[in-house]
Parts: sequence; structure tokens; C-alpha cells
Amino acid sequence: MRLGELGTHDEMSIGVKMLDCDHRQQFETIFELQDLIASGGGRGRIGSLLRRLERFTRAHFALEEEMMEATNYPGLKGHVFGHRQIAEHLQALVVFHDRGALHLVPGSLDFLTVGHMNHVEHDDLSYGLWLDRPTEMGGRRDQGLRT
Ligand SMILES: [Fe+2]
Ligand SMILES: [Fe+2]
Repeated sequence: MRLGELGTHDEMSIGVKMLDCDHRQQFETIFELQDLIASGGGRGRIGSLLRRLERFTRAHFALEEEMMEATNYPGLKGHVFGHRQIAEHLQALVVFHDRGALHLVPGSLDFLTVGHMNHVEHDDLSYGLWLDRPTEMGGRRDQGLRT
């Protein structure tokens, strides 16, 4: 499953450049993994991409949560719960792969793509829209705060 099949990246923008860049990078790593699996790529390379994705995603979640805390986002608690679930999935993939207990075939990681897409298009977008609420409601619209 590729981004083209899910919609363009612009359609997935949450309106926060720094986070949009991270999301793009996450998807690119997932697609690289899927291509590698489809072409029968080596175990070592797959393991290193899985670890890269896990590390990058944890750093991205930490940044997002820091931004939400700094802006007093009311949806922070629920959002953090979603992050924990995704992070645990990724960690499980890394652990099982390291143990040689992960049998990956083309399509095995589609759930990752769908999980990330759902999180970005719903949870992350809710934050972007909340940030962008009208100034009179405490939002940053027209304040030049769009990052
Ligand atoms: Fe998020
Ligand atoms: Fe995100």
C-alpha cells in the first residue's frame, strides 16, 4: 500500500510544517520497508529499518506531545494513549524480528500504514485544526504562528 493509494501527502497535511515533515518521513520509511520485504531484502536491513522507524516515531511522538503540552491542548491525554499503542506495536515488531520470530510477507505491514494514516488523519489533524481555531477562541489564526 502506497501513499498514492491513500491520497496525496497534501491531503494529509495537518497544517504544522514540522510535524508534516515527520509524517512524510515515517511513511517513506514504511514504504521502504514494504519494498524491501517485497523484493526479498535481507534480514539485517529490515531490522535496521524497523529500528529506525521505531526510534524516529518515538522522537516524533515526544515532539508532538511537547508541542501539545506547551499549547495546553485539551486532547493531550487521549492523544498520548494513541501514541503509546503505536509505539508498543513498533517495539513488538522490533523484538519479534530480533528473535527471528517475525515472518514478513508483502502486505504484512499494511496495518502499519493504515494505523499511521488513521492517527495522522484523525488525531493529529484534530490538533492542527484546534491550533488553527479563530484568534478570538484563543487560536493562532492570523497571528503568524503557523509553523
Ligand atoms: Fe500524534
Ligand atoms: Fe504525528
